Amino acid sequence: MKKKILDIIKKKNKSKIVSLTAYSKNIASIIDKFCDIILVGDSLGSVLYNYKSTREVTLNTMIEHSKSVRMGIKKSLMIVDMPHNTYRNSKEALKNAKFIMKKTKCDGVKLEGGKKIIQYVKTLVKNNIPVMGHIGVLPQSDKTFKFKGKKKSEKENIIRDAKLLEEAGAFSIVLECIETSLAKQVTKSINIPTIGIGASNNCDGQILVFDDLIGLNPIKVRFVKKYSNIKKEISKAVSKYSSEVKARKFPSKKYSY
Ligand code: KIV
Repeated sequence: MKKKILDIIKKKNKSKIVSLTAYSKNIASIIDKFCDIILVGDSLGSVLYNYKSTREVTLNTMIEHSKSVRMGIKKSLMIVDMPHNTYRNSKEALKNAKFIMKKTKCDGVKLEGGKKIIQYVKTLVKNNIPVMGHIGVLPQSDKTFKFKGKKKSEKENIIRDAKLLEEAGAFSIVLECIETSLAKQVTKSINIPTIGIGASNNCDGQILVFDDLIGLNPIKVRFVKKYSNIKKEISKAVSKYSSEVKARKFPSKKYSY
């Protein structure tokens, strides 16, 4: 059965939320049965397009990938990242979130930030657009991927932002690259689920970039576990194809009309 926002919220303190990114129909259709949430993340900017940062990702790119992902999803909740510069004020956020929802038929959108974007989150929620928050390291605005939460002020701000997002009506919050003890504190201090990436086992769920998990993206960060080495498998298949074409073995009669 198709997951609803409430199903995700109800998982808090009961069972862990499984989440992954997807950028295309084929991948979404494989991971759908294992996931609660599939995120069309703007990480596609660095993973697929080699951009220096996610700031270069456009609304149009997010929409085209999301339309593809939508076709592969039967049961997971589908969330789409609002790209950089598409939510600089409430009016812009609402216009673009509505556009994303309409064009992609997703179940909600994700915005990065805390206090600064609270009014925009409130506006979206008031207009029945489910919002996933994202605090800790913010790839759209942070220049480096430094773990957060060591400094007292950083810690206080993250806890404050989580509470503000909950009050504004967000249904869950991604915690990216924050200290283990802070993840625990944030998760305990709010009634909506936290989804961690590089934020320890203390969150209500986990998210990873799919291409990282299968070893396709050459990223080396401590919080990514590579569950497969798909590059090897692809190389094997393509090498065989190449040899067979050169040896005139493919296509054989079986593959010809
Ligand atoms: O863009 C993305 O893929 C994300 C996840 C890593 C949380 O925001």
